[in-house]
Amino acid sequence: MTGQKREDLSVLKPEFGRETSGESMDDQCREVRPADPCAIVIIGASGDLTSRKLIPALYRLFLNGYMPVSFAIVGCARKKLDNEAFRQLVKESLAKGVGDDLSKLDHFAGNLYYRTVEYDDKENFKELSCFLSDIDKKHGTAGNRLFYLAIPPFLYETVVHVMGEAGLSRESRTSGSWSRLVVEKPFGSDLKTAVKLNDVIKRCFSEQQVYRIDHYLAKETVQNILVFRFANSIFEPLWNRQHIEHVEISAAETLGVEHRAGYYEKSGILRDMFQNHMMQLLTLVAMEPPAHFRPEPVRDEKAKVIQSIRPFDLEHLEENIVIGQYLSGNIDGKKVPAYRDETGVDPLSLTPTFAMMKVFIDNWRWQDVPFYLSSGKRLAEKKTKIVIQFKDVPHSIFRDIIGGSISANCLTFFIQPIEKIALTFQAKKPGSTICPRSINMEFSYDSDSGETLEAYEKVLVDCMNGDQMLFLRQDLEELCWSFLTPLIEDCEKCVDKSSLLQFYGSGTRGPEGVEKLKT
Ligand code: BG6
Repeated sequence: MTGQKREDLSVLKPEFGRETSGESMDDQCREVRPADPCAIVIIGASGDLTSRKLIPALYRLFLNGYMPVSFAIVGCARKKLDNEAFRQLVKESLAKGVGDDLSKLDHFAGNLYYRTVEYDDKENFKELSCFLSDIDKKHGTAGNRLFYLAIPPFLYETVVHVMGEAGLSRESRTSGSWSRLVVEKPFGSDLKTAVKLNDVIKRCFSEQQVYRIDHYLAKETVQNILVFRFANSIFEPLWNRQHIEHVEISAAETLGVEHRAGYYEKSGILRDMFQNHMMQLLTLVAMEPPAHFRPEPVRDEKAKVIQSIRPFDLEHLEENIVIGQYLSGNIDGKKVPAYRDETGVDPLSLTPTFAMMKVFIDNWRWQDVPFYLSSGKRLAEKKTKIVIQFKDVPHSIFRDIIGGSISANCLTFFIQPIEKIALTFQAKKPGSTICPRSINMEFSYDSDSGETLEAYEKVLVDCMNGDQMLFLRQDLEELCWSFLTPLIEDCEKCVDKSSLLQFYGSGTRGPEGVEKLKT
């Protein structure tokens, strides 16, 4: 959580927001040290990810003083461009973006370079290596390189291999220069392909050099989960099977497949959202406190959660999972097509665009507490949230006044687009009679007034700083796949028989079977 001006704890009593000791928390927090000088090499610089996410994030980091004093950005792709043409493209795409201050655009563009490369050509990458040495001399980037793979995943192995052969993964003990590799999702398409990709990477880069991205982990509200759980003493004693009835983790989107049918048809919702984002949210809610807030202890605890997830009973999948695909419908007053009518989608496609699963974690803390994970495209609204549903009071002394049941307490992390934490509890309704009612206590982020970093900005800053906390370690990546691969394979088999897939209208809350899963 950042400065006091961002806190809005006003719903019950403004006093809740006051800092209690003389020294503010912000004063106690260590400053992020300025990143080392470095060259950021974007491989796949002519693609969508570069123009939509990476370049705007880098420019905003530059504007807000997060970039190292000495840096260069080197775009690489097959397209034939020179430095000037690349700079022009970047300037045009940034100028089209909304709201950024463009006064430093020329200064920023002066640090941009472009190299044409064939992705399987070792010579091209050797030339890149020489070029980067020249950049070091010109910009003082000290031999430090951050390689960002913004290419289609099928090219990862080829590119990593030629990078290794061209010596681009080498670090220097004497000068302390580093080389880091950022890998985007999807990381493989099942356990076997993920292990194979890791093997190729391991031949050239050590684990400390590899940054496997899950952009959900870089969201401000997601990072807050561990602070909320482990910097407060009042919630953690309740955070277990004695007090929690169930947990819901949901990521609903209104968007459809957009222009990504080629990828999505093969991936579907289970690979696209569950193997990564949903599993990571689950680990943050369920993990034990790590010994320290450092990358390795945190990632160790996450790995233990995934290892403890009860494997699905493949004979009775329908008891634990619902999958669906969107039909046409209305979203925000606009008619949208069915998934099968989207450009590039097979008219008989059986790819799931929605899934909900009931997951159990077999350990002392969580035994028999259901975790409902759901995500889908073309749903009624865009909303990601985590709901911790506490148990009912054991006995209601108010039963004669309000009947049998009192609403149980509920803690909700609203991840996006609204960013807040809300706790519901019972309080007396003002008046002459004793009448309990549910009220909300809220902490709300005001993303406009604080120094929030957008997910890709945070990812890039952490890579430049060598902080692997928000990135997936090899074992975590593979553990997620080993839990999901049997399910995905089985679903794909079932889907062939169309037995499991349920259709849902766009703009609804998903297939009807969803409610049944919760009973
Ligand atoms: C991506 C998925 O990882 O996450 C997309 O590939 C999805 O299909 C996106 O739309 C959702 O991210 P966010 O940050 O908009 O919730």
